[in-house]
Amino acid sequence: MKNKLKLMLLGLAFSLTAGAQDVAKEKAFIKDNMTFAAQQYAMMMKTPAQGKDGKAVMPHTMRKDGKVSKGSIYLWTAGFFPGSLWYLADYTGDKALKDSALVYTTYMEPAKTFTSNHDIGFMMYCSYGNANRFAPQPAYEDILTQSARSLCTRFHANTGVIQSWNGFRSWHGDKVYNYPVIIDNMMNLELLFHVAKVTGDDSFRKVAVSHAETTMKNQIRKDYSHFHVVYYDKETGAPIKGETSQGYADNSCWSRGQSWGIYGFTMCYRETGDKRFLKTAQGMADFYLDHPNLPSDKVALWDFNAWEEGYVPGVRSRASITPILYRDASAAACTASALLELSTYVKGSKSKKYFDGAVQILHSLGSPAYRAKLGENANFILMHSVGAIPHGSEIDVPLTYADYYFIEALHRYNRLLDGKPLF
Ligand code: GLY
Repeated sequence: MKNKLKLMLLGLAFSLTAGAQDVAKEKAFIKDNMTFAAQQYAMMMKTPAQGKDGKAVMPHTMRKDGKVSKGSIYLWTAGFFPGSLWYLADYTGDKALKDSALVYTTYMEPAKTFTSNHDIGFMMYCSYGNANRFAPQPAYEDILTQSARSLCTRFHANTGVIQSWNGFRSWHGDKVYNYPVIIDNMMNLELLFHVAKVTGDDSFRKVAVSHAETTMKNQIRKDYSHFHVVYYDKETGAPIKGETSQGYADNSCWSRGQSWGIYGFTMCYRETGDKRFLKTAQGMADFYLDHPNLPSDKVALWDFNAWEEGYVPGVRSRASITPILYRDASAAACTASALLELSTYVKGSKSKKYFDGAVQILHSLGSPAYRAKLGENANFILMHSVGAIPHGSEIDVPLTYADYYFIEALHRYNRLLDGKPLF
């Protein structure tokens, strides 16, 4: 309730300081982008929603021939498309979009028992979490509860963290670590907080808090950048080493990982009121916004330290043969969405810094430099994201999660301008 009031005041404050004309301009900017997104996705929905085996597939990225590349419902990105449709349906009030959101969400149900990695939070909370938010049904809560149970099978009390992957082969040689935790995992905790509240079973919340605290201790550096991966000793629970999988070097700062951290710790503050999480979210946000390598449009390079002295990729990483400093629109979009929320938890110049930073990112992403033309870009909204340069995959392409966080941020911005609570 306190947060709701703060958000309303923030919206009001923006309206008063910016003036009615600016608010109208910003509302038109949001409308233009949301309308465009709905048009692109209407075309996207004309492409087959089932693969050759008849099973559901979800938009993921664009192939080299310019066609959409889709993945199974068990891919970590599968929940983003239905989630985007929910935000668009809520914004536009369009009944057909809502029906489509429902159809695509329903495809995701079998993934509720997925336990092969930690990604079920992305998969099920972006799809069913949004379905439950915008069109609640008791059945959705059951699906979310099962999903949270699946995620918790990967938590081991002696480490205090949810195991992200079953193993990861280091870029430095053949060593395979068997308990890797990646910063992305912070995003999965929202599912656990939600289910703890709905079921009254505090064990879900305890897992989420333990994971966030342990990550804060072992994965966030003193300057509030992060290690992409931290390996744990499964027996003793001790953190062994920080490395990278998707960043430039072990000691560099991978941009999307930074955005996962800003978003994840902001959300953990929302759910717990623990000021240490707020401090971490702010530190990570300041690292992003104040970094000397952040371009003036605030859309980050794929890694803040790529090709800088003192940062060396592992021998097996393709980062060392990728000299172009690609941007990552997905990192910027996720950061923008997180900054809008973070701006509501702090006051004065800090709040303004995060709010203005988010708005600047959104305007950059909504410009022709990043936003596709109608009917192009395999019907995705944004261009210029990066999946995994060290793996040599998905470089300078559209990605479904860049679109999702862009749409979510626009939805949040709109609510703030209307003086409405974010949640
Ligand atoms: N969660 C995987 C990624 O950010 O690429």
